[in-house]
Amino acid sequence: MGHPRVDAIAEEARQAVSAARTSAELEQIRVRFLGRQGLLTQLLRALGTLAPEERPLVGAAANETKRELEALLATRLLATQDAERRVRRATERLDLTLPGRRPPWGALHPLTRVHDEIVSIFAGLGFSVAEGPEIETEYHNFEALNIPRDHPARDMQDTFYLSESTLLRTHTSPVQVRTMLAQKPPVRIIVPGRVFRRDIADMSHSPMFHQVEGLAVDRSITMSDLKATLELFAREMFGRQSRIRFRPSFFPFTEPSAEVDVLCFVCQGSGCRLCKQGGWLEILGSGMVHPRVLKNVGYDPEEVTGWAFGMGIERIAMLRYGIDDLRLFFDNDLRFLRQFA
Ligand code: DAH
Repeated sequence: MGHPRVDAIAEEARQAVSAARTSAELEQIRVRFLGRQGLLTQLLRALGTLAPEERPLVGAAANETKRELEALLATRLLATQDAERRVRRATERLDLTLPGRRPPWGALHPLTRVHDEIVSIFAGLGFSVAEGPEIETEYHNFEALNIPRDHPARDMQDTFYLSESTLLRTHTSPVQVRTMLAQKPPVRIIVPGRVFRRDIADMSHSPMFHQVEGLAVDRSITMSDLKATLELFAREMFGRQSRIRFRPSFFPFTEPSAEVDVLCFVCQGSGCRLCKQGGWLEILGSGMVHPRVLKNVGYDPEEVTGWAFGMGIERIAMLRYGIDDLRLFFDNDLRFLRQFA
């Protein structure tokens, strides 16, 4: 045909193709002759090194062989693939009795579960969810809440300051202020969110944790409304037989203030490891909204009163699930998290 050098390659390729039995072998042949380092490819690339009168002859013959081989391979490939499919279909058996493979299920994080539960209890009582920014002004986080300049909470030790007057909120209480500034009474909100404090992480501290704030302001709201609401909350959260007690306390933004404990649900008050023999577990801080806070947001303390509370979601979750190290919530160790699936 064209040229003896090309004819030799062409003949070798034809024989290889006709001897090939599988599509894998055909692919090897394609690479050997037509691949980037293939015999024909190299020959075509080296045309320039041939004598001028030889170039057109070799070039034409090589190109023709290339086209022939491509066509040959394509046809044979179709045939072998077809045969291979038929063999596979005849020999492979689907075992329809095998049990299905269950996809791995994710699960809600324990903090998410407790968060959702708290929110749904208060939503059931007619509270709506309010949110506020994690970057706060000193005004909303402290000033408006009647926390004086020399209060230790304002200290650089405790607060992440971003500038002279902005900071990472240290509690969810500033959302009380934001909500009351934005709307007239009556107000009934709960405020879940992240808060930040300059604490070193240990069993009971983390520089970031979660709180839920509650606030109710209306005409003639009293402390017994607060008690009844929290009693109901405790029963929903910790069980029917749950009881709470109020202990006098102090917060700058409430007067009077109280800390609230639930009866230890492990020992029912007789004393155990969970309640450190005290019989009660502290769950939140609360009180009647300080008249000065109401004034700061433009409410008339002669006309409306309110109560507020704040609790840590981590603390509630630790009590609920008997977890003794707060860091477990943030380590994302699957062995821990899987227990909540
Ligand atoms: N903001 C307080 C804290 O982070 C918790 C708190 C106590 C919130 C009493 C309140 C409250 O609304 O009335 O420690």
